Formats: sequence, structure tokens, C-alpha cells
Amino acid sequence: MISRNRRLRTNESIRSLVRETSLTTNDLVLPMFVMEGGNKKEAISSMPGVFRQSLDLTVQTVKENYDLGIKAVNLYMKVSDHLKDNTGKESWNPDGLMQQTIKAIKDAVPEVIIMPDVALDPYSIYGHDGIIKNGKIDNDSTIEALVKMGISLAEAGADILAPSDMMDGRVLAMRQGLEENGFTEVGILSYAAKYASAFYGPFRSALDSAPVDAQEIPADKKTYQMDFHNSREALDEVLRDVEEGADIIMIKPGMPYLDIVSKVRELITQPIAVYQVSGEYAMLKAAAQNGWLDNDKVLIESLTSFKRAGADMIFTYAAPEVARLLNY
Ligand code: PBG
Repeated sequence: MISRNRRLRTNESIRSLVRETSLTTNDLVLPMFVMEGGNKKEAISSMPGVFRQSLDLTVQTVKENYDLGIKAVNLYMKVSDHLKDNTGKESWNPDGLMQQTIKAIKDAVPEVIIMPDVALDPYSIYGHDGIIKNGKIDNDSTIEALVKMGISLAEAGADILAPSDMMDGRVLAMRQGLEENGFTEVGILSYAAKYASAFYGPFRSALDSAPVDAQEIPADKKTYQMDFHNSREALDEVLRDVEEGADIIMIKPGMPYLDIVSKVRELITQPIAVYQVSGEYAMLKAAAQNGWLDNDKVLIESLTSFKRAGADMIFTYAAPEVARLLNY
């Protein structure tokens, strides 16, 4: 035998020398759930270790995580029922919860990159990412609403808008809206290949934002999020969003879609983000709590698989505990 692959696996020193990828806190983005009120913290039962928090506690958590090396947060609001309607207009209220949260984080920890979610579902009485018109999710009026929301979030101090709605043409419209309003420095991280996935279940219960049967529209998001049987279509979505001015491209969910991450890595030069979504997190946690999997090891292994597939950054609810593991 001339070649013995085991030579380079003999001990940790040699393994670490030949290691092709690594996971660091630089890769992590923390998604956070914010609710109204003060000094409030509610556990999310299907996501052990994840909480909905009022603004004051959110700011504290952002600070603590910044000290652990987590430099970016992705924000979601739990919107009170009385503020929901079909237009999502609360999303561009300059005094809305998202706008207040962005301002408070910017004041307290100006170095943190704030990436608010841009989509109407938490603001929609139907739990849909779009406005319903004539029994359909109406693409173009939804875009107008999303642009208003995006500009309002930029005014509040957002660094990077993260549209997760999957309407056609929204990246270009948002880019134009930002340019026209002087927000040339505000970036766009586009959820370009976002699949209609059952892995979003725990997230929707955290925000009480699950789609409901509305007019003739079924309680799913299949007319705008992608069909999980497809991969060429994902490449098309990604190329379009890059052309429309997206700075960063998101693929979502993560672990069941690593083939897509890898193909997109071959296709574009822009940074790629991958989302370890709520259902993936819930699966790992449930197995770990039962003693069936080693929590720390499966977290590091699953997140490293995103890096290996070609991701530059990872959205994960486990960011704080992973940062502690990496810093130990
Ligand atoms: C809403 C949005 C969703 C997620 C992120 N933004 C849910 C959905 O599309 O229904 C899912 C995140 C997760 O499951 O962790 N536009």
C-alpha cells in the first residue's frame, strides 16, 4: 500500500492540521423573538432553551452574546392580535415593536449587526407573508408593503434587511426603495431559496403566526415558498436575487437542504447564509433531552456540516451555547 488515509488521522494534532473547514463564533447569527412589555421572558416549549423576551431583556441578551463573540442578530416580533390585519400596516409603524427594538439595540450595542426579518406573517391575521386579494396572495401589493416596512426598519437603524417572504421581485423593489431614501449602506440578505417546509412548526407556535385557512387559500405557504422536490428552481431563485441586488443569499432550512447549499456555492461568489430552523433545533434538543444524542457534539457536527457544504454564516437558535462551547 502506498497510500494510507489513516496516517493523517493518527492524533488530534495532525487531524487539526489537515482540517478543511472550521466553525467559529464569527459564523453565527442569533435569531431572537421579541414581545411587548417589560421584564418578561417566556419559554417556548418546543424549543428548549429559547425564549420570547420583552425589549429590555432582549437588549441585555444581545449584549451578553456580543461578549461571547456573536456579532449579528436576526429579529422576529410577537405581534399582539389587535395590531394584526390583512395589510400588515403595523410593520411600518415607526413606533412599532420592531422599530423600537432596533433603536434600543443600536443604542446599547452599536457594533452589533441588526438583521430584522422582513415579512408580513407576524402582522397578518391570516399568518401569511402576503396580502390577500381576490382569494390570492397578491405579489405586487405585498411588495409595496414590504418596501415600506424595509424603509421603516432602515430608518430605525437596521444594518441588513432580511426579506423572508418569497414574493417575486421584492429584492429589486427593496433595493430601489433603500437607494431612493438615502439608505445606500443598508444591505439585503435575501431568503432566496426558502422551501415550504414542515420544519418551521416550532417557530410558528413561538410567534403564533401559523397560516390559517383564509378565503380560498389553504393553510400553507406553497404558492410562494418553494416545493421541496426541486433544486434547479433554487438556483434560479438565487441568481435572480443576486441580479436584483442581494448582498447575501440565504438557503433555508439547513440540514435537509445541504445539497442546495453545495450547488449554490458552486454558482455564486456572494456570501451564503444557512438557517438551522426551529424544527431542526427542536429535533436535536428532543433527542438530547432523552439522552439519545450528545447535545454538544451533534450541535457542533450539524453546524460544521453547513460550513463544509459552503455556508459563510449560520443562523441558529443554539448560537449562545455553541459560542460557549467554542470559547471554552
Ligand atoms: C416568516 C419566517 C419563518 C421562518 C423565518 N421567517 C416561518 C415561515 O416562513 O412560515 C422560520 C424560521 C424557523 O423555523 O426557525 N417569514
